[in-house]
Amino acid sequence: MSLSLIAKTIKASPTLALNEKAAILREKGDPVIHLGGGEPKSRAPMDAILSAVNMLNSGEVRYAPADGIPELKKSIIRYTEEFYHRKVNPENVIASSGAKQAIMVALQAILNPQEEVIFPAPYWVSYPDMARLVGAIPVPVLPEDGTFYPRLKDIEMRVGSYTKAIIINSPNNPTGAMYSEEFIADIVDFCERRGIYLIMDDIYHRLVFDGRKPISAYDYTKKSVEESKLLIVNGVSKQYAMTGFRIGWAVGNKKLIEAMANIQGHQTSGPSVLLQKAAVGALNGIQSSVESLRVTLENNRNVLVDQLRSFDGVKVHVPDGTFYLFADFSAYEKDSQKLSNYLIDKVMVLTVPGKEFGLDGHLRISYCGTIKDIEEGIERMKWALDPNSPNELYIGDRKLVRDWL
Ligand SMILES: Cc1ncc(COP(=O)(O)O)c(C=O)c1O
Repeated sequence: MSLSLIAKTIKASPTLALNEKAAILREKGDPVIHLGGGEPKSRAPMDAILSAVNMLNSGEVRYAPADGIPELKKSIIRYTEEFYHRKVNPENVIASSGAKQAIMVALQAILNPQEEVIFPAPYWVSYPDMARLVGAIPVPVLPEDGTFYPRLKDIEMRVGSYTKAIIINSPNNPTGAMYSEEFIADIVDFCERRGIYLIMDDIYHRLVFDGRKPISAYDYTKKSVEESKLLIVNGVSKQYAMTGFRIGWAVGNKKLIEAMANIQGHQTSGPSVLLQKAAVGALNGIQSSVESLRVTLENNRNVLVDQLRSFDGVKVHVPDGTFYLFADFSAYEKDSQKLSNYLIDKVMVLTVPGKEFGLDGHLRISYCGTIKDIEEGIERMKWALDPNSPNELYIGDRKLVRDWL
């Protein structure tokens, strides 16, 4: 079959593939522990559900403006004022089918084929393929000092005449690192001086720990929204545990937003109005679920860090936010794909190989599940990897015998 060049270069999303693998193993009855997930397990807020149910009961679910219904835009404007300290207008806002589509239409609106988009590594798995989907070139930049905190000088070295945009994701998937205010201020200033679009992927911005506060890139520019090439991306997926609702948004100058809306109009005609109503419910309703999710995640992080610290040879970077931890397992195995497969085969624990995020030797471990899963998952991993572990492990009434180390 003859497929397009783009189709041939795009891989399936490794994290979605892992979810499928977990589902297949579970269906077989295997006691899988999924530490590779990317979504909180709490329920969507009741206000979101009621808002969608009200609309559904009306029986009138129709086409809506491609860039989002006015009601949702109003909620996003309020949100932007509260968390980004900027007053924006409806023309500065687009609602999309998830933060993913907001980023995708932004890249389509900004990049020409062969132009470059820079992002720090480790990076969210989708950025490279999203760049390729528009014929652009992804340029990941790994901090040279071996930390998970990018430095402007490393990024600066990779900026050239083809650089059109930089994507910053903080707190970061997969590392959980939240970049400093100084770095955000510097990158905003740098992009302004060089006329480069700066896309802030803030999908985890309120899920931060140890008393940290969400950072607003708008605080570091004196430019008006219309003069600025800053695009803020956010959504309800993570903070409101509404991943399946597929509602995200972007805030930026109206020329860029209009271009994005034109593209989106031809792609999907905009996100479902029913799900936009749910997002309105979440944004306007009782907000306690966000803080309670944040507290749960912080507690889960502490449990996971404690468990991993007792794991000889594993290097742990304590996450500042999100629900991911990116641990260095290279003392056991440098090929992260091999290690991830090994853990699935031997002890039915799913983790995502670091290779997918641009840094081998690591595994991304999620702590958005239950404490029980975290504790048992790490115990199984330890048993599979540590040569000093006892010979046998019981999972329920299944006896595993270690015959490989
Ligand atoms: C860094 C990052 N950006 C964007 C997204 C996509 O968010 P949404 O589900 O709203 O499309 C994800 C989801 O995993 C993510 O990790």
